[in-house]
Amino acid sequence: MKVLLVGGGGREHALAWKLARSPRLTRLYAAPGSAAIARLAECLPLKGSAAIVEFAARAGIDLTVVGPEAPLVEGLADALLARGLRVFGPTRAAAALEGSKSFAKEFMRRHGIPSAPFAVFDRIEAARAHIAEQPGPYVVKADGLAAGKGVSICANRADAVEALERMMVRREFGEAGARVVIEAFLPGEEASYFCISDGTGYVTFPACQDHKRIHDGDRGPNTGGMGAYCPAPILTPALERRVQESIVEPTLRGMAAEGRPYRGVLYIGLMIAGGEPRVVEYNCRFGDPECQPLMLMLESDLLELLLGAVEGRCATQRPRWRPGAAACIVMASAGYPGEYATGVPIHGLESLAENETCAVFHAGTALADGGWVTNGGRVLGVTAWDASLQAALAKGYALVGQMGWEGVSYRKDIGQKGIAKVRSVGPAGP
Ligand code: AMP
Ligand code: GLY
Repeated sequence: MKVLLVGGGGREHALAWKLARSPRLTRLYAAPGSAAIARLAECLPLKGSAAIVEFAARAGIDLTVVGPEAPLVEGLADALLARGLRVFGPTRAAAALEGSKSFAKEFMRRHGIPSAPFAVFDRIEAARAHIAEQPGPYVVKADGLAAGKGVSICANRADAVEALERMMVRREFGEAGARVVIEAFLPGEEASYFCISDGTGYVTFPACQDHKRIHDGDRGPNTGGMGAYCPAPILTPALERRVQESIVEPTLRGMAAEGRPYRGVLYIGLMIAGGEPRVVEYNCRFGDPECQPLMLMLESDLLELLLGAVEGRCATQRPRWRPGAAACIVMASAGYPGEYATGVPIHGLESLAENETCAVFHAGTALADGGWVTNGGRVLGVTAWDASLQAALAKGYALVGQMGWEGVSYRKDIGQKGIAKVRSVGPAGP
């Protein structure tokens, strides 16, 4: 089976690594891929949906797997389907769960899915008046895609008005900020929950926790994610059942009923407080870096799981998960999530002992004169599986210690929330 993977970050490196192990795979292509993905797939510099569809048709691609949200929100799946090609990833209408926060919030309200109270604004005067009436803290969100930067959590009114001005007046996120959603702040602990659906049936993944802040102890500015681990014991079996019944199933039923059946991977960002799970956000893709430890936890064939969604077989799929836990530690450039240099030589990367239970996924690297150099804010995702979360972290951090570059930064406390929770409530099962 010929597979085309769209994307080129750490998430796609992990997907390529797992797809390459599928007994059903005959050939793997990636567009654009990366220098690291090129060791697993033939990389193609295809630009835009039309070029991807053309290539998939000409090369006889059996399945296109779309990693990032932007092409899905723009309608890449629709364009492939219109040519009779198979795709793993939602249509544009279904990807609106991520592509429009106002759509997602109104959808949740229509279907009784627990989430934060909110209001939607197209005019800044009305948004300002709303803030003047509500108590803080305020969560101000650009409606459209903003590369993960469109959410501002504001402690006071002045900051909330400043966020509104950045989005609606200065248009820092372009058209994505023409409309804003203002939400009530939800306290609690976050978890990332993933399921793959064919529109009705679904298969779930072990719950994950990301580490969004740059510094240890969840301090400093937000990033794309500095590390992740799974399974996250915060999602006890009883809570997971609640998430499925009160969130996953009404979401899939509601999308089907509204003529937007959701086929692909659905990422549900959860906030959990007092035993109550609520939706903070939906995404129409795997999380990055959550995908990296999930690929190490998955023992069975990823391609089979993705095909199950395309062929309407999710309800009968029984993926095998490894026991134990997996974790990913992100190694980032100095200065990230602000400005950072690129082209800094990375040492130690070639001599690492990688295997089925520990792998280094490249988020932002390049090859220069035969050696690896940094080429992004998040550079590497060191990912390890073991029989316990402690052991997985020990294995991962041991690998982190064997490589680096000038100015490298990483969090030293990845997974510690999970370890503390295991001590208090017992281990999570995938
Ligand atoms: P989003 O892009 O909607 O996921 O928001 C990014 C991050 O902002 C989330 O992962 C949360 O950490 C935080 N966040 C978003 N909405 C809320 C909310 N209503 N209450 C508290 N935190 C939130
Ligand atoms: N790790 C957060 C995200 O992928 O959005």
